[in-house]
Amino acid sequence: NEIYLQGLGDVRPPMSTDPTTLESMAKGLLDSGPFGYVAGGAGSGATVRANREAFDRWRLVPRMLRDATDRDLSTTVLGQQLPAPILLAPVGVQAIVHPDAESATARAAAGLGLPMILSTASSTSIEEVAAASGEGPRWYQLYWPNDDEVCASLLRRAKAAGYTALVVTLDTWTLAWRPTDLDQAYLPFLRGIGTAIPFSDPAFRAGLEKTPEEDPQMAILRWVGLFTGQDKSWDRLAFLREHWDGPIVLKGIQHVDDARRAADAGIEGIVVSNHGGRQVDGAIASLDALPGIAEAVGDRLDVLFDSGVRTGADVLKAIALGAKAVLLGRPWVYGLAHSGEAGVRHVLRSILADTELTLGLAGHRTPGALGRDALAEVTR
Ligand code: FNR
Repeated sequence: NEIYLQGLGDVRPPMSTDPTTLESMAKGLLDSGPFGYVAGGAGSGATVRANREAFDRWRLVPRMLRDATDRDLSTTVLGQQLPAPILLAPVGVQAIVHPDAESATARAAAGLGLPMILSTASSTSIEEVAAASGEGPRWYQLYWPNDDEVCASLLRRAKAAGYTALVVTLDTWTLAWRPTDLDQAYLPFLRGIGTAIPFSDPAFRAGLEKTPEEDPQMAILRWVGLFTGQDKSWDRLAFLREHWDGPIVLKGIQHVDDARRAADAGIEGIVVSNHGGRQVDGAIASLDALPGIAEAVGDRLDVLFDSGVRTGADVLKAIALGAKAVLLGRPWVYGLAHSGEAGVRHVLRSILADTELTLGLAGHRTPGALGRDALAEVTR
């Protein structure tokens, strides 16, 4: 309504409401290095495509003559009341697309009451982002460093700064083969971007012979080394439990047995995710992994979902297939690239409105009312 009414005065929306157009817009705005880093995927791009194709295989089956005039998108995740089943996925190095970076994102998310998940690879410190987020809900995403002191220090800082849930990303213990970035020899971290959190961290600094200011190259190499290598195991989750007083969510779960192990370990939530197709080329579409996992563990922990969500219909399909809520990645990053906080707000408001309208037109008042009977699977 707001957009159409403004149109009467010849005012157009600040940017497109269409996710594909947003991506082309960002391509025109950003240098090829940063754009490729955000838009790209692993290897042949098969998983990026599979994520989208999986959404196309499921269709909503609208119901008629049911009163869905008043819709309510609110839901509860990890015992926390949210205005909608949508969270901002952790996205590192936001300074590569806009100078206001994570602080702009935090303000936009807080204004709408949607949780922002701050990445360990943030270009802005944990405390600065918390200040920008204010009263807004915020979670902290951990890339699990192979130094316990640094890990405990990051968790302590996040807790002290008001982040309520811990999202541990398991699928990125080393960076994947990403041809778009390789061809441009572009890796933000090696350029010193996305190092704000470790550089400001006392435990990280204590492990260096020279300060990052004196020897930035050394600090960058130590930081890359900290987050590379897989020496973790399911047993080590006890360490996180010991150092984090709050719910823990494991991100990057794709196999039903891993989901079961998470539930057995007493983990409160998982994100069924393939990192937006950025890690394992040829991996199963995240949406294809969702129903089996939700069926197996949905009654034991909160199942969240990401990878490929672009529209309101996508949000509803993921929920009908068993997700409690979804994480959104690239689309709002394109909004950030366009106009910082206002751009992120525009993209988020667009998907919220689309979700609410589509829910109502499909004949439902709440996301919780969506079950498998709200969908049909089409096979070609
Ligand atoms: C990511 N993602 C990510 N995940 C994470 O746990 N920590 C991180 O620092 C990052 N960084 C990051 C940067 C960029 C540029 C992108 C595009 C993605 C993955 C992210 O959280 C999420 O899983 C995917 O983005 C979801 O897929 P869509 O919505 O982008 O298709």
